[in-house]
Amino acid sequence: MPDKSSGVGFLGGGLATQAIHIPVLATLRDRFNIVRVVSPDPRVAAEVARRCGAKGSTREQDVLDDPAVEIVAICSPDAVHARQVIAACKAGKKLIFCEKPLAVTRAEAEEIGRTARATGTPIVVGAMHAYDPAYRAAQAAWAEAQEQADFIQATVFLPSNDVFINQATDPLPSSRMQRAGVPGDDLAFRRLFMRGAILGLAIHDIPLLRDFYPSVGTVVSSRFLPPFGYSISMASRDAQVEFLALLPGTWPADWRLRVMGRRHELTASFPPSYVLAGSAHVVISRAQGTTVFEEPVSGYQAMCPTSGM
Ligand SMILES: NC(=O)c1ccc[n+]([C@@H]2O[C@H](COP(=O)([O-])OP(=O)(O)OC[C@H]3O[C@@H](n4cnc5c(N)ncnc54)[C@H](O)[C@@H]3O)[C@@H](O)[C@H]2O)c1
Repeated sequence: MPDKSSGVGFLGGGLATQAIHIPVLATLRDRFNIVRVVSPDPRVAAEVARRCGAKGSTREQDVLDDPAVEIVAICSPDAVHARQVIAACKAGKKLIFCEKPLAVTRAEAEEIGRTARATGTPIVVGAMHAYDPAYRAAQAAWAEAQEQADFIQATVFLPSNDVFINQATDPLPSSRMQRAGVPGDDLAFRRLFMRGAILGLAIHDIPLLRDFYPSVGTVVSSRFLPPFGYSISMASRDAQVEFLALLPGTWPADWRLRVMGRRHELTASFPPSYVLAGSAHVVISRAQGTTVFEEPVSGYQAMCPTSGM
């Protein structure tokens, strides 16, 4: 049990803050209290802060300067993550949580690495599947069995996020993202969307892929799938990897990782991001039978430090 509760300051008060992080921290009140919420939109800052008993403001510096903020939670648009992570490291904060993606270029990621090493600041990235306790236990069992992955398939089929967001919170209208369609004949725009699909969605499954298959091999094909998704095939001499996603649809949420080896098959079904429903449901099947892995806490809850800061 921690000796005290740590103060959290949010940079960004949009849908991830409202529908994911505030509900998760509400389950961990003995460990964390939200003290500040910053958004460039004063109404979002004030209302989101009011809902969690924090102070709202429009100035990023308010979070950095406030000694009551020990942990900075960066939930702003992707393009400013790296700058804000670096600023929070330099401000002497004890821990930084940054929503994925941590950075949008390799140069940004390297700069974060240099800064965090110099300041000694731990950084946790909101790649919740990588922290999912049932997935972690199943992956450890796979490694212990010394199994090789011959085929990996990561699939994401989700309905509109609004379906979950409206159940998780009462979203502020001005924090809704404006989503544009993809003009079918505009190649530059489609490339931009493919980049967004990888940094926004495929990135969740990349740490999992690396668990089983540290060397990616060659990208054999890669296509953006409208309205929003991707189909990516990778291969090496030893293994084949397929990444497939499509949203939004009217189908039930289905976010799955399937890993096939010679003696074992692992299937992990992850709950959608906005649903606080415990861990993934993971099954390892082999000739001798099946083992099921399930835990009461989600990857987001599991990634939170368990001792006081
Ligand atoms: N892990 C997940 O499953 C998951 C799910 C959704 C979003 N995300 C990530 O969370 C982040 C936020 O996404 P969202 O859905 O909340 O977006 P959003 O557009 O709903 O909210 C972003 C908020 O950031 C504010 N903002 C803009 N510039 C800012 C700045 N410089 N400093 C502070 N705040 C600023 C905006 O006013 C807005 O309120 C993104 O990086 C996204 O990739 C992760």
